[in-house]
Amino acid sequence: MAAMANEFDFFSRRCVWVNGPIIVGAGPSGLAVAACLKEHGVPSVILERADCIASLWQKRTYDRLKLHLPKQFCQLPKFPFPEDFPEYPSKKQFIEYLESYAKRFEVSPLFNQAVQSARYDETCGLWRVRTVGTGADAGNRSHEVEYIGRWLVAATGENAEKVVPELDGLRDFGGDVTHVCDYKSGEAFRGKRVLVVGCGNSGMEISLDLCDHNAFPAMVVRDSVHVLPREVLGKSVFELAVLLMNWLPLWLVDKIMLVLAWLTLGNVEKYGLRRPSMGPLELKNTQGRTPVLDVGALAKVRSGDIKVVPGIKRFFPAKVELVDGQVLDVDSVIFATGYRSNVPQWLQGCDFFSKDGYPETPFPNGWKGDCGLYAVGFTRRGLAGASADAVRTAEDIAKIWKEELRPAKRSFACHRRCISQI
Ligand SMILES: Cc1cc2nc3c(=O)[nH]c(=O)nc-3n(C[C@H](O)[C@H](O)[C@H](O)COP(=O)(O)OP(=O)(O)OC[C@H]3O[C@@H](n4cnc5c(N)ncnc54)[C@H](O)[C@@H]3O)c2cc1C
Ligand SMILES: NC(=O)c1ccc[n+]([C@@H]2O[C@H](COP(=O)([O-])OP(=O)(O)OC[C@H]3O[C@@H](n4cnc5c(N)ncnc54)[C@H](OP(=O)(O)O)[C@@H]3O)[C@@H](O)[C@H]2O)c1
Repeated sequence: MAAMANEFDFFSRRCVWVNGPIIVGAGPSGLAVAACLKEHGVPSVILERADCIASLWQKRTYDRLKLHLPKQFCQLPKFPFPEDFPEYPSKKQFIEYLESYAKRFEVSPLFNQAVQSARYDETCGLWRVRTVGTGADAGNRSHEVEYIGRWLVAATGENAEKVVPELDGLRDFGGDVTHVCDYKSGEAFRGKRVLVVGCGNSGMEISLDLCDHNAFPAMVVRDSVHVLPREVLGKSVFELAVLLMNWLPLWLVDKIMLVLAWLTLGNVEKYGLRRPSMGPLELKNTQGRTPVLDVGALAKVRSGDIKVVPGIKRFFPAKVELVDGQVLDVDSVIFATGYRSNVPQWLQGCDFFSKDGYPETPFPNGWKGDCGLYAVGFTRRGLAGASADAVRTAEDIAKIWKEELRPAKRSFACHRRCISQI
């Protein structure tokens, strides 16, 4: 590894000096920032808890998943999607693209390295990042490592951990209970009555997938939701919104989106899909709630194949009681209740990130903290947002790297200073 200038054993924990930024997470954000740094001639090290790149896409998504935005909004910096890829690449194609991306920029993350803590050491002016081994290395204390470096890039994503609500009686339910991150296809649910909790993009699409596998989904919609068509007259609604936002205020673009939705989808409220009072783009910007882009679930809602039900009151063995008093017989429960960032679990002594795991400073200034800390992929703007963060972060670090640092001298000096502190 070119980026490592030195390493030594300190009792059971190895300490490794990183000559360049330490990036946590080898998803699209981590890969993009490492690639952009490489283009500037800055080495880096990526620490990844899983045994592969893009573990969210490879291990925690369902089989039928496709990008729901056109490919030009999902490509990473400096490397477009292949021309023969469709407008909405499949999950398999997206993973292939990410593999080629890592290969093209010679990005080789360190796998099975789960970051437990990262803190800035003011004494030596460096970040100290501790990892434990995962996979085959799990529990082996000799695989605990401390990485030390001048910059830290948080790229662990907005979907690092699943969210599973605590609901009364769930322990007594007795049937299968899973989260959508473990769902692959409806095959395993053929003929079953499945309660899908949540009506985001995941809840809607797996309800559709369950129908396609002859299961009987009931989808819990506890509140309101914006459903938009993915396309209008063959044109991506997202692309249209981006275009209109160049000319019109957000509230007006929201109104146009809702008129288009009404013209294309009709009145969805009569099926139990009440719209929020705030428009879809404003809701996304202010509360991070993503509108659902319909890929076919709505037709199944209309036909009654997907039953829309209100919030859950409590579970009983093989049953669920809803807030309106209905009791349903249920074989399986799938939580499509979203994800959360895990930054507060590992980033210590730093108030740049709030308790919910997102930067305190609002967009567009939340990518850079103090003391060489950066956040890539926390703007709730999908892959396009992550790419923009990666470009800015790499430029900023490269500027300091080129102007202020003499890599060989600096790394040696820091390393010696640091070792003497340990
Ligand atoms: C089902 C689904 C579909 C989506 N579809 C789209 C889409 O079509 N278009 C779009 O723009 N966005 C989409 N998104 C949003 C998604 O967040 C991005 O596509 C993208 O994966 C974000 O990349 P990331 O690198 O920031 O985060 P991630 O892809 O989540 O990668 C973060 C990496 O960090 C690692 N990690 C986490 N914690 C630690 C730790 N403590 N130590 C070491 N490593 C750690 C994880 O293992 C993971 O590999 C989708 C999300 C989901 C869940
Ligand atoms: N094709 C694609 O590209 C694709 C597919 C799937 C997902 N995604 C993306 O992946 C990210 C995560 O999506 P997601 O759908 O998994 O999560 P999400 O957007 O966070 O949606 C979670 C859903 O669960 C509901 N919920 C949470 N707690 C609940 C409870 N106790 N009872 C009932 N409902 C509850 C929420 O309702 P409230 O709104 O009331 O809180 C919401 O409907 C999003 O960015 C999404 O766009 C993309």
